[in-house]
Amino acid sequence: MAVERTLIVIKPDGVKRGLVGEVISRFERKGFRIVALKMLRMDKRTAEEFYSVHRGKHFFSDLVEFVTSGPVVAMVIEGDSAIEVARLMIGATDGRKAAPGTIRGDYSLSVQENVVHASDSKESYEREARILFGEEDLA
Ligand code: RTP
Ligand code: MG
Repeated sequence: MAVERTLIVIKPDGVKRGLVGEVISRFERKGFRIVALKMLRMDKRTAEEFYSVHRGKHFFSDLVEFVTSGPVVAMVIEGDSAIEVARLMIGATDGRKAAPGTIRGDYSLSVQENVVHASDSKESYEREARILFGEEDLA
């Protein structure tokens, strides 16, 4: 096991519903260290780049509209096996199917409005973190 970093984004539904503190505290209580944290609003171009792996899928335009609909809170966290552990903590994509005890399982009833994003691999983390943070934020 190795210390890794991953990117967490609290999506516009999570921010609107007042779940920012809840999501951050779950990762803190798990033992992760917050390396960088900010609130921002993704513009259309940033959202299309961030979710470029989904370009061409039926939900792509709805997804871009959703993630640009309000501010998000992005953070980089660090700890043992951060990428895998964070994915376990957020749960399955569809909040209706995500296990209770996971963030989506506890707070989402939707496949789109599922509160939180977490990078799914080291490559995804490196690509995504570079879109939302500068090198100096992550030093
Ligand atoms: P994320 O990238 O946000 O962490 O989510 P994920 O890996 O669990 O799911 P992914 O397949 O990467 O999908 C990205 C986001 O697109 C929205 N989505 N909508 N309407 C649909 O069928 C559908 N499928 C996915 C969700 O917001 C999902 O998190
Ligand atoms: Mg994904």
